[in-house]
Amino acid sequence: MRKKVIAGNWKMNKLLGEAVQFVEDTKDKVASNDKVESVVCAPFPYLPTLVEKTKGTDLEVAAQNMHFEESGAFTGEVSPSMLADIGVTYVVLGHSERREMFAETDETVNKKAHAAFAHNLVPIVCVGETLEQREANQTMTVVEEQVKAALAGLSEEQVKETIIAYEPIWAIGTGKTATSEQANEVCTHIRKVVAEAVSAAAADAVRIQYGGSVKPANVDELLAQSDIDGALVGGASLEADSFLQLVEAGT
Ligand code: G3P
Repeated sequence: MRKKVIAGNWKMNKLLGEAVQFVEDTKDKVASNDKVESVVCAPFPYLPTLVEKTKGTDLEVAAQNMHFEESGAFTGEVSPSMLADIGVTYVVLGHSERREMFAETDETVNKKAHAAFAHNLVPIVCVGETLEQREANQTMTVVEEQVKAALAGLSEEQVKETIIAYEPIWAIGTGKTATSEQANEVCTHIRKVVAEAVSAAAADAVRIQYGGSVKPANVDELLAQSDIDGALVGGASLEADSFLQLVEAGT
């Protein structure tokens, strides 16, 4: 049985005081880590403070991106060693917003996945199709290509540790959630792709989240699906009470 993982992606929201208050309001209330993994994906400036404040709790802290190089002339970037140095434990890679606006590619996502494992960071790798691709019946092909590219060269053990987040772009921030059947159909296909590309054991172990307008009102049905092991949540993760409800649903 795969342990559920609920991650709140704050994106470019909150100021430090709000971020600290959120952590104070949730860190001792999230379910224990042996039941569900609870993760907040916070903006870079807050990571050291949030890591410090969550030490010894079941609330994990993730970055929303990172570079794949160790160091060098990459103005404005953050390296994997910097994240590990401050105690971050997860990192979101390949979010559709970074693919769309910041030139993230399948190739850079793969390089970042390798760099994450080199620094003991758990990668949350985002994949998903546009509305046009879905309407053109290209969803499975698009997602398959993204998954294969992201996992290329990773060992079986590394793939087992990877979290894949299926986020249909047309459902992100729109309030238009994929139906649980639609979401599970793609997550089942992702698991099949992992089985074929890596191994049956890796496919059985890898956790696959759904993301795209997940809310307390729809999370139970989504998490009840055979191949959905968690959620990557934007808007509904910004408030402590809502986030706690989402985590509770994962227990
Ligand atoms: O990474 C999660 C995010 O893309 C989903 O956003 O607001 O639709 O839950 P939202």
